[in-house]
Amino acid sequence: MILTGAGISRESGLHTFRDADGVWSQVRLEDVATPEAFARDPARVQAFYNARRAQLSSVAPNAAHLALARFDRCFDGELLLVTQNVDDLHERAGSRRMLHMHGELRRVRCTACGLNPAWDGPITTGSACPGCGAVALRPDVVWFGEMPLHMPAIEQALSACDLFVSIGTSGTVYPAAGFVQTASGHALTLELNLEPSEGWTEFDESRHGPATLLVPAFVDELLG
Ligand code: APR
Repeated sequence: MILTGAGISRESGLHTFRDADGVWSQVRLEDVATPEAFARDPARVQAFYNARRAQLSSVAPNAAHLALARFDRCFDGELLLVTQNVDDLHERAGSRRMLHMHGELRRVRCTACGLNPAWDGPITTGSACPGCGAVALRPDVVWFGEMPLHMPAIEQALSACDLFVSIGTSGTVYPAAGFVQTASGHALTLELNLEPSEGWTEFDESRHGPATLLVPAFVDELLG
């Protein structure tokens, strides 16, 4: 089982959240990433995610995304890649056995009927749900205070895996930050991150450096 965070997309040009130049140093998460913020100022929240969605067309998967996609293609055993990222760089690289636990920028969710269709442009004040027609669309991302997606499948994979690899995540946001504890005991646990994360001592092994170097080398090791 592989968990990824914002660090894997950093070298594609997308900012992480908690590094010095990260997203949360430019905007307060309480203003854009909570249900309360959306209730208070929907236009601001939509503008924030519209800009992030638009940015996706100017970035491309990097060597780390491509290496994980190669692993997905070449590995016959069971595999689940869980990403906290809302970008689409893993699937554009070719990963298939994966889940977005924090949702996807390139989808919207209708708060009237629950449909979550693919969506490439901005959500505007006139945007209607393609299913029910309601003008009630929100970004299909999980905000602070909301339940991450696909948790039963993720917990099942965590309890059954024999290798757990965490890549490019600071290990500060739960439940993902607790996955290493769940996997410990029955699985070998490994962190690949630019620097030691919050919970690096929980891992059997922690390797430090940029994802575009560490991840391809690790995939070579696994497949070799
Ligand atoms: N290669 C590997 N790791 C990197 C790189 C790189 N090139 N650049 C930065 N990192 C590491 C940082 O050292 C940091 O530990 O990536 C981590 C990014 O941490 P965060 O910014 O906290 O991102 P993440 O862990 O994905 O955040 C979790 O928080 O705000 C929410 O919903 C958001 O999904 C996100 C969640």
